[in-house]
Amino acid sequence: MPAANPEHEVGSNFDTTRHGHAVAHRNVTGKARVRLPASRAHQRCWAIASRTRVKVLRFFVLYRRTQSGPICCSSARCLRARSAWQLLRCILRAAAVPARLACTNNPMRLIYKDGVARTATSADPMHGVRSRIVGVGEAVPVLGGGKRPYINFDNAASTPVLREVLDSVNNFMRWYSSVHRGSGFKSKISSHAFDSARRIVCDFVGGNAREHVVIFGKNTSEAINKLAHCMPLERDDVVLLSLLEHHSNDLPWRAKCRVEHIGADAHGGLDEEAYQRLLEKHKGRVKLVAVTGASNVTGHVPDVHRLARKAHEAGAQILVDCAQLAPHRRVDVGRLSDPAHLDYVSISAHKMYAPFGTGALISRRDTFEQGEPEYRGGGTIEFVTLDTVDWADTPDRDEAGSPNVVGAVALATAIKELTAIGMDAIARHEAELTTYALDKLRAIGPLRLYGPSKTDTAADRLGVIPFTLEAVSHFQVAAVLSVEWGIGVRNGCFCAHPYAMHLLDMQDEAIQRIRTDLRMQDRRTLPGMVRVSFGMYNTRNEVDVLAEALGQIARGRYRGRYEQDRRSGEFRPIGWQPGFAQYFEL
Ligand SMILES: Cc1ncc(COP(=O)(O)O)c(C=O)c1O
Repeated sequence: MPAANPEHEVGSNFDTTRHGHAVAHRNVTGKARVRLPASRAHQRCWAIASRTRVKVLRFFVLYRRTQSGPICCSSARCLRARSAWQLLRCILRAAAVPARLACTNNPMRLIYKDGVARTATSADPMHGVRSRIVGVGEAVPVLGGGKRPYINFDNAASTPVLREVLDSVNNFMRWYSSVHRGSGFKSKISSHAFDSARRIVCDFVGGNAREHVVIFGKNTSEAINKLAHCMPLERDDVVLLSLLEHHSNDLPWRAKCRVEHIGADAHGGLDEEAYQRLLEKHKGRVKLVAVTGASNVTGHVPDVHRLARKAHEAGAQILVDCAQLAPHRRVDVGRLSDPAHLDYVSISAHKMYAPFGTGALISRRDTFEQGEPEYRGGGTIEFVTLDTVDWADTPDRDEAGSPNVVGAVALATAIKELTAIGMDAIARHEAELTTYALDKLRAIGPLRLYGPSKTDTAADRLGVIPFTLEAVSHFQVAAVLSVEWGIGVRNGCFCAHPYAMHLLDMQDEAIQRIRTDLRMQDRRTLPGMVRVSFGMYNTRNEVDVLAEALGQIARGRYRGRYEQDRRSGEFRPIGWQPGFAQYFEL
């Protein structure tokens, strides 16, 4: 385990407590209070120790409240009556598990005997989630001086890292070694960790090792390119895509065979009647339907199992790009015998609180059992002579070179944590926040929302909200939010140009003009929207700040004077440059 900070060791804190004869109290609201000792001689050490002590006591109270098992020998009366030291002894004796407790900044976290930090479960599964996000609320500089707590509303691009993921990676590093290549103890541990991660990913999407294979790669883009390479497709086979797709689930297919796009309705929802028509039109030739599990532009969530059923009836397979869906909702590939099963899904760890460069394709096994791998090299073979190559079985043959075991450990840890919190609890929290945000944003007159209509239910969408502000460029809205309010959003077309053009109702002529401007290296006229996207840790308070900021921008109230850069299209405040090197430099 990482060396626990001795200042935070519970034992040492409570030695000090004992010297000071402190008495822990718990008031009716459950908050711990510490009565300071009268002796002036101990004042200084009390002042130093009490901050940590209060944290520790808060932890006990919360922990006691949230555990159903016998942690403490008595009831709340005990917490009120006993000294902190007695309380600690009592907890250690009864709990059996946390023989080594350490107080971290998060009052819900324990470091167990095995050295792994875990989070105490709570009656409210979302409790304490925010404090487990590394860098949450970090102060960032804003125009006009001063700093603001950073609000990250760009989770659809990448989420921050979960503390447990970072801890797990740090713990793992001392055991890090080659995977499937060495005979040493550390190599065995690393190989074991890598294999376990594969199993955890498989379970997460409801797969089973007999029918499915998990192929690790860099991200969703790589996963889909790999599938496009390995699927046995002829040039005139048809792949049906939806208009909602991220370029990563569109361009790889265009390069392989004939693609047709399933249209979208006025709110950006997948048009299922158009889907049915296309299946009939290309009867017998549709080999694959490739759709997103959730749109990264509007948050729209198609009913992928209904689409799957129809695809299978038509003799096609289905790929669901779950890059956006997996951090927010349950994914279930189902058994291959189920007509509504998903044949392929892809995920990206950097969108799942584990940004360590990995992703995965979870595929039906038979697709990767034949043919030749996309990349050749170390780890992909059984035996090679000067004239012959015997390929290894999948997944080894499909993961050429030394794998990213650190990324796999991070992804698996994130999955365990997300599962422990509960995907349904996460979905509920985000749906509630999205409803709150939509109400706030609708109240801003000149703001136009895109995506699922008011009547769609929370189940039909994620917390991804695109909008425009009348008469203010999306580039400028994003710049002012960042520079003056410390709010991170994304603007533009979000790597889904056809879908964005559809939502913005851009006609051919206008699109051609934009292409001409782009050829002249001028991005200033690029159309787009502003997108806010929530993670499981965002709060109503943050939404309030966003609504306040947008209200001000809509009224033309901002401090800075901005100029637009021709090449990037970005707005920059004139005369203000925060100096990023102060914050991080290599
Ligand atoms: C729906 C969707 N698919 C695919 C991708 C590509 O993911 P990655 O950049 O991890 O390859 C993204 C990224 O934003 C996405 O939102």
